Amino acid sequence: MNLSVELAPKHHRGLLLANPVMTASGTFGYGTEYQHLFDIQELGAIVCKGTTLEPREGNPQPRLAETACGLLNSIGLQNIGVKAVIEEKAPIWATWRVPVIVNIAGETIDDYAKVAGALDGVAGISAIEVNIGCPNVKAGGAEFGAYPDAAARVVAAVKARTSLPVLVKLTPNTADIAEVAIAVAKAGADAICLINTLKGMAIDVARRQPLLGNITGGLSGPAIKPVALYMVYEVAGAVDVPVVGCGGITTAADAVEFIMVGASAIQVGTANLTDPSAPSDVLEGIKKFMVKEGIEDIAELIGAARH
Ligand SMILES: Cc1cc2nc3c(=O)[nH]c(=O)nc-3n(C[C@H](O)[C@H](O)[C@H](O)COP(=O)(O)O)c2cc1C
Repeated sequence: MNLSVELAPKHHRGLLLANPVMTASGTFGYGTEYQHLFDIQELGAIVCKGTTLEPREGNPQPRLAETACGLLNSIGLQNIGVKAVIEEKAPIWATWRVPVIVNIAGETIDDYAKVAGALDGVAGISAIEVNIGCPNVKAGGAEFGAYPDAAARVVAAVKARTSLPVLVKLTPNTADIAEVAIAVAKAGADAICLINTLKGMAIDVARRQPLLGNITGGLSGPAIKPVALYMVYEVAGAVDVPVVGCGGITTAADAVEFIMVGASAIQVGTANLTDPSAPSDVLEGIKKFMVKEGIEDIAELIGAARH
């Protein structure tokens, strides 16, 4: 059975995954934390926590709130910073079979470019995933990814500073996600990943206060799956680069739905927080589905529900 997928066919090095199951940024640490729970080397790729130029403490507590079928988070990109990723994590990743993709974030276009530049040529890093759902501090805090032109500028700046394949992770908090996808593909994205969290909030009625210390947060989990699936369907029909689906994927059946609307690979996120072996179970379930349906190559499934 062939499960392998190429996520950067237009890139000189490419990004070949042994299978389409990846972990979503911010829900799987640096991979190392999960090593003792199952064989993480069997996964298609691991995407690490969002990485910024300097270490970040993140937002005030509370930073997590459960909702009906979902989770609100306002972690605020707490992370160890790019220097520590290069010095402490990459040497471990360099010994792994599974490719590691570093998710990057920034407050300015220059931040993104500097983080991408710092990661270039570091052994153990197979690609960069650019989170364009971050507030553009110089433009009043609107997400870069809300507007096609701002999104494209981030991608062009990152591409200019790296020789690695670049995945661009879209935010659903925009008027027309296909337009943003087209703009970032034109700016050189090797693949597009979607979706990041949907902006939301919750109130603690006893305290008459927002539940989250940051007031608003990002909604993830099964609650957002139909929205994510629709957006992946839209984007896969609008661009000619591979698409990675993410948003509420908990089971192999969820993963197959995303693949059938056109995703070449999928990411498991919030599901890791309740069941750390979810990515492994999703992979096993995809294999079982393929055996049951007599499918020999995952390529037969990609986009199968589009016709
Ligand atoms: C606790 C938490 C932290 C996250 N941190 C990041 C991050 O650092 N960078 C990023 O691009 N996405 C981050 N995300 C978004 C996820 O990678 C994913 O896009 C989103 O949660 C939707 O997928 P899911 O419903 O499977 O979780 C985070 C999500 C959660 C729940």
